[in-house]
Amino acid sequence: MKIAVLGTGIVGRTLAHGLADEGHQIAIGSRAGGPVDGWEGAVGTFAELLVDADVAVLAVKGSVAENLVRSLASNLAGKVVIDTTNPIADAPPVDGVLTFFTTGDSLLERLAAAAPEASFVKAFNSVGAARMVHPTYQEGRPSMFMCGPDVAKGVVAPLVESLGWEVEDMGGPVSARAIEALCMLWCIRGFNNGEWTHAFKLLH
Ligand SMILES: NC(=O)c1ccc[n+]([C@@H]2O[C@H](COP(=O)([O-])OP(=O)(O)OC[C@H]3O[C@@H](n4cnc5c(N)ncnc54)[C@H](OP(=O)(O)O)[C@@H]3O)[C@@H](O)[C@H]2O)c1
Repeated sequence: MKIAVLGTGIVGRTLAHGLADEGHQIAIGSRAGGPVDGWEGAVGTFAELLVDADVAVLAVKGSVAENLVRSLASNLAGKVVIDTTNPIADAPPVDGVLTFFTTGDSLLERLAAAAPEASFVKAFNSVGAARMVHPTYQEGRPSMFMCGPDVAKGVVAPLVESLGWEVEDMGGPVSARAIEALCMLWCIRGFNNGEWTHAFKLLH
């Protein structure tokens, strides 16, 4: 697949390398479209890369995601977008608990409203970049909670599985309210115990 990774941070670079290793054609996008640290492959501006991408990975700062997606709405039309973002506010954590700028709704729902012809699938938001690709745990494969429109999830699920995850389909876009909240839960252990390498597993 041709995959446009929109974001040059640790998440974008980690997923770009992981998906490239699985044989996909990857390019990493940024505002300026210039070189990306630690990435020898294709680069471009966000808009340039979307022209012929089959799938996009959105990995930008949560607070800028809605405006960015609105500005790219026509470029994103018809695309499946793996949404890794979290609606983290600028306020510092309280007792290890992050503050979100969303109240009641989710960032994914706002992105879907900003680019209504794109299909957003929440994934990779509730684990740290250090364990995003082929995570290894004694207990087996961890769970990747996903939600979004069914057809798009059908495209994203095999990609997530190929990176070493057990997919847990949590339903439609509204379920992002719960999946985004998992980021808060995941980060508590990091802020309070200094551990950033854990992952969730659903036992059933
Ligand atoms: N860090 C983690 O382990 C982790 C884990 C799970 C989910 N997440 C989520 O994944 C997303 C990416 O996280 P990250 O830590 O990799 O990177 P980040 O520092 O949150 O975001 C970096 C990206 O945001 C873009 N950006 C910043 N300001 C912008 C603006 N005003 N307009 C357009 N783009 C802008 C940057 O573009 P340029 O390249 O042009 O500078 C860059 O590509 C976040 O939403 C985060 O909550 C992070």
